[in-house]
Amino acid sequence: MVKQINWQQILIQCKNNIQKQIAPLLKTLNQPQPNLGIGAGGDPIKQIDLAAEEAIVKTLKEHKISFTLISEESGEKKYGETPNENFVTADPIDGTTNIDRGIPFYATSIAVSTKPILNTIHTALVTDLPHDITYIAQKGKGAYRNYQKIAPSENTSLEKAVIGMDLNTYRVKEIAPKLSSIIQKTNHIRHLGANALELCYVADGTIDAFLDIRGKLRATDTAAAWLIIQEAGAKITTPEGKPLNIKLDPKQKVTFIASANPKIHKLILNFLRREKE
Ligand code: IPD
Ligand code: CA
Repeated sequence: MVKQINWQQILIQCKNNIQKQIAPLLKTLNQPQPNLGIGAGGDPIKQIDLAAEEAIVKTLKEHKISFTLISEESGEKKYGETPNENFVTADPIDGTTNIDRGIPFYATSIAVSTKPILNTIHTALVTDLPHDITYIAQKGKGAYRNYQKIAPSENTSLEKAVIGMDLNTYRVKEIAPKLSSIIQKTNHIRHLGANALELCYVADGTIDAFLDIRGKLRATDTAAAWLIIQEAGAKITTPEGKPLNIKLDPKQKVTFIASANPKIHKLILNFLRREKE
């Protein structure tokens, strides 16, 4: 018989253990850091990223769960006797540069799925670690911020919208022109440095849209927020307006337009289309 697992409870335990595990490391960030090589996602591994990943693995092992971990740090690793029953896609720390620089905006992101494919995710958690704000979603059950049901903004005016966009790429000369008419139209552009959390801000109405068309963001950063966005009733598609469905793989990259409601989503997609023509 397949074991019933209370994933929501377990993901909350994971984030509690991450907070405990990283607390002492946060105090030593101004000291020289060990060289731990390059992670599966292609960035240098920091002690704090590894500590957060270890907290996730330890928590799941304590519950005797078999799983395949798909992580930005260690890549793909199998645990237990039936690891293909559960896929756990994690970015243990999203916003590592913010942590390094003392900017209090970073998160952990964990998604659980039945296959290594985005649209099989059934439970997701993103926690804003410094503020202890947790976004949780379960498929078909809505999305919650610290146990309060969330909904996206109803704003449909681009002029009034707060729009996040990530232009953090050496390909900026190619990417920025595609977004220039949206930038001209709106008065409030933001990028806060932890894309999983910025996507949750679309889900709960803090901002109206978040765009990442660089082709640089990893599936591990996006997986959990993808379900949170859907369950909150916001929209997330490819820049062409197609449903997002990607492989959950540490090397998989993703581009998307996430927005609060169908009207503002359509406006943004139309601006992108026009820039192409
Ligand atoms: C990064 C953040 C950042 C984005 C980078 C990501 P990380 O995640 O989400 O906002 O610009 O592309 O890699 O490396 O801190 O997990
Ligand atoms: Ca990371």
